[in-house]
Amino acid sequence: MKRTLTGLVSVLALSAALAACGQQGEVKSDMPPLPASATAPVNYVRDIHSHARPEIARVKHVDLDLVADFTAKILSGTATLDVTAEPGATEIILDVRNMDIRAVHDDKGPLQFALGADDPILGQALTIRFPAFTAGEHRKIRIDYATRPDAAALQWLTPAQTAGGQKPYLFSQGQAILTRTWVPTQDSPGIRQTYSARITAPAGLHAVMSAEMLTPEGEAAANGARSYRFRMTNPVPPYLIALAIGDIDFAQVGTRTGVWTEPSRLQASAAEFAEMQQMVDAAEKLYGPYRWGRYDLLILPPSFPFGGMENPRLTFATPTVVAGDKSLVSLVAHELAHSWSGNLVTNATWADFWLNEGFTTYFENRIMEAVYGRERALMLQTLGWGDLQTTLAELPAADTRLHIDLTGRDPDDGLTDIAYEKGAAFLRTIERIVGRERFDAWLKGYFERNAFRPMTTEMFLADIRANLVKGDQALEQQLMLDDWVYKPGLPSNAQAPVSNAFVPVDAAAKAFFADKGPASAIPWRNWSTQERQRFLAWRPANLRAGTDWLTNQQLGDLERTLNLANEGNSELVFAWLQIAVAHRYQPALPKLEQFLTSQGRRKFVLPLYTSLWAEGDWGRPIATRLYARARPGYHPVTTGSVDGVVGRPAGQ
Ligand code: BES
Ligand code: ZN
Repeated sequence: MKRTLTGLVSVLALSAALAACGQQGEVKSDMPPLPASATAPVNYVRDIHSHARPEIARVKHVDLDLVADFTAKILSGTATLDVTAEPGATEIILDVRNMDIRAVHDDKGPLQFALGADDPILGQALTIRFPAFTAGEHRKIRIDYATRPDAAALQWLTPAQTAGGQKPYLFSQGQAILTRTWVPTQDSPGIRQTYSARITAPAGLHAVMSAEMLTPEGEAAANGARSYRFRMTNPVPPYLIALAIGDIDFAQVGTRTGVWTEPSRLQASAAEFAEMQQMVDAAEKLYGPYRWGRYDLLILPPSFPFGGMENPRLTFATPTVVAGDKSLVSLVAHELAHSWSGNLVTNATWADFWLNEGFTTYFENRIMEAVYGRERALMLQTLGWGDLQTTLAELPAADTRLHIDLTGRDPDDGLTDIAYEKGAAFLRTIERIVGRERFDAWLKGYFERNAFRPMTTEMFLADIRANLVKGDQALEQQLMLDDWVYKPGLPSNAQAPVSNAFVPVDAAAKAFFADKGPASAIPWRNWSTQERQRFLAWRPANLRAGTDWLTNQQLGDLERTLNLANEGNSELVFAWLQIAVAHRYQPALPKLEQFLTSQGRRKFVLPLYTSLWAEGDWGRPIATRLYARARPGYHPVTTGSVDGVVGRPAGQ
């Protein structure tokens, strides 16, 4: 949706009017007109990244019955959808991408279906025709289907790609619009669905999902296989339907918390996240009850393409956060916070992504403050602020708005520090102006009022005006809400967080990077991971511009003195390698190769290939060689991005 600031007032007036009559809608000119009978349900808002027409017919529940074939790399079976529709409706439109649809039935027999044109981003519309619905009717529609071996949501790992090395592994990643590559449903965050599943896996493998696990030990199935059943009774956006199958085990951490992972990693993982239960308790104390029952963590093999993914009841996380010293646990605070911001109150469209990630980044920091104290929280805020400054300098102005225009674009384009860090800075600004007590009361109420609902940027503005600003003109002016949401850059009321702990770190960084002092003067050993991150994040713009250019001798001094070649903390390795690549520092190449071939987290992998590529004659052959080696181990999410930089290696 394109929106100019002059058009803003009328858009707000329109959305207020629609909200008042119980509708929130927008008709896209490229869509065929709705049938006269179609009325938009409450909160309906057009999602340009889905073919679905929920105002005509919508999915309420998905029941999966799937068999995992690790040899063919295929999930096959049925998805039985509970559908409601407007009286007279004769079709439902689902989203699918790169999937084999074999047949569709209702309880009376086969139904006709058609697959639409294949859009590279959106996939295909799957239109299913049926006899006209009558008022209030619910119907079950069963789709027989199979996924393809290269389904973008799924990664099928060979035993060699796991920690144990003995058994294969499968996991899914739905966000933003990948669920449609393994579940034929309406794949839009505004179309919440409950789900249930029976997953049949080969003997010796265990299946887990983002749902209540009904059969912890599994049930006997044909050929020695075992079936696992699941149930999610809260309606969720389809991007939160998630599955993993592997040699995984469970360790309890707290009363409602625990860790799933491969047996050889179980102890280290459970120890790393020993404070999970305290995090849940702190989160509930801040913003109301945790509504999902258990909160468990699944630590995946190293190819998991994200740091974490907030799949309900079962956060999926990269093993690169198991640092051994609990230094990167803010990731768990983040994914846990999504149990409110994102999973309870959900961005209605991907243009509203900042409502998920900005709120969550703010909430994450409040959990960190409650469990680990103010100083740690301030350091994390300050690191985020630094990332935000870098992002603001790099992105085109239009992409530095919180509410972004994604017309014709992949929702992944919105995955920047703007959504996360500008979003969090916005909420911190409101907190500072109204005071923490008042802000917390509003935010708690926001989660309660809007629980299990999609949220648009306009609805957020309406909520905060109705429940916090309450017509106070002076406050309205001070907050600059519209500037934050719709204008590029940072409004004038933004304030940088200040961490006192970083003052000596910055002094040491200046002494080394700018004033060319010795590495022996850096009090590295006394520093926490966050202080070390701050040191290594020293003015990347200066490094790029050559102002603080380091000689090979200085880099060697740094590498040896800080023992960077043997560093194990993934964030520090990444930061060091970025410096090394920018300087074409040859001795760091073994470490770079090891890092790029031992994990596939896109946040680390993509910037390193991009930096190599930027180094022309020096970096491109290195990137090409390393990528050809590493690519077979990466998830489709990561290869999809890196292919765009390095190109697809020949024969892959
Ligand atoms: N929900 C996101 C991951 C995501 C976003 C996946 C958009 C696909 C599309 C998750 O909560 C997240 O933000 N993960 C971060 C870690 C976090 C601590 C900032 C990540 O993966 O780096
Ligand atoms: Zn997040």
